[in-house]
Amino acid sequence: MARPKIALIGAGQIGGTLAHLAAMKELGDVVLFDIQEGIPEGKSLDIAESGPAEGFDAKLKGTQDYADIAGAQVCIVTAGVPRKPGMSRDDLLGINLKVMKAVGEGIKAHAPDAFVICITNPLDAMVWALQKFSGLPTNKVCGMAGVLDSARFRHFLSLEFDVSMRDVSAFVLGGHGDTMVPLTRYSTVAGIPLPDLIDMGWTTKDKVDAIVQRTRDGGAEIVGLLKTGSAYYAPATSAIEMAEAYLKDQRRLLPCAAYCNGEFGLKGMYVGVPTIIGDNGIERIVDIKLNKDEQAMFDKSVDSVKGLMDACKGIDETLA
Ligand code: APR
Repeated sequence: MARPKIALIGAGQIGGTLAHLAAMKELGDVVLFDIQEGIPEGKSLDIAESGPAEGFDAKLKGTQDYADIAGAQVCIVTAGVPRKPGMSRDDLLGINLKVMKAVGEGIKAHAPDAFVICITNPLDAMVWALQKFSGLPTNKVCGMAGVLDSARFRHFLSLEFDVSMRDVSAFVLGGHGDTMVPLTRYSTVAGIPLPDLIDMGWTTKDKVDAIVQRTRDGGAEIVGLLKTGSAYYAPATSAIEMAEAYLKDQRRLLPCAAYCNGEFGLKGMYVGVPTIIGDNGIERIVDIKLNKDEQAMFDKSVDSVKGLMDACKGIDETLA
């Protein structure tokens, strides 16, 4: 049986890391696409040359030609510009919206059956625009944010409790921005919810509040340290987890930016919600109950995503 084909649109920091991970995990053959000549070719060759020592079987190809993504089962989109210190994800909107148009048209023409995972920021608005530009079914187009935000939350919680990250599960919903909603009630250490851990005296509410804030600022913390770009190891790993769930029909329950059509009382927009990913793409949105405070935070986050969608509509009238 032929290996699956994974097309990576954008061969920058995240794109290169995605290619390396996809090859090492033998998820399939990899096509790295970028408008910059030489970068995808160079990264593909470099990663292929790591194959003998690592011992993986995967072909890698770099290209500037959309025809090379033909027949891809998965497309992961990182094309665009990342933020620099002092910038918010929203500052990228104008430039990256134009990139989404070109990428959407490329995917529509050459890989219309792919499961598309968007990483380009501002995430929730970009994945919405990408779905419209590509015309692919909404269950086949989603955005990577919740897995990353939840991973950051899990990491910080594991440091606080001094336990393995594997035993910490956490949920972060809403838009991928300052208004994201880390749900403490649904976050646990080996099944024990955070509010119970506070009651047990293992941590304090103040400490959990500080961790929630650090999670919200998780992307900015890395941008502040790197100074020349944004995070890429954890974002790439998070998207690979989603791609693997699709390719292996794992039916993983992962928070993703998914198209809501009635779920959470929302229609016609993308936002971070719990989803099940299997071989039909986004198989289901898990419409969990939010309490009053959580709902208020979620509504605020939804409003900020809607604001970005309106800004996109103002720039490109085909989105209106
Ligand atoms: N088509 C294809 N590739 C493009 C296009 C385009 N129209 N425009 C830009 N690119 C490429 C750039 O040439 C660059 O190689 O996208 C790549 C982006 O890579 P980086 O600048 O290294 O950015 P990266 O850190 O990978 O982040 C990419 O993901 O997390 C988000 O905010 C981040 O929006 C940013 C994206």
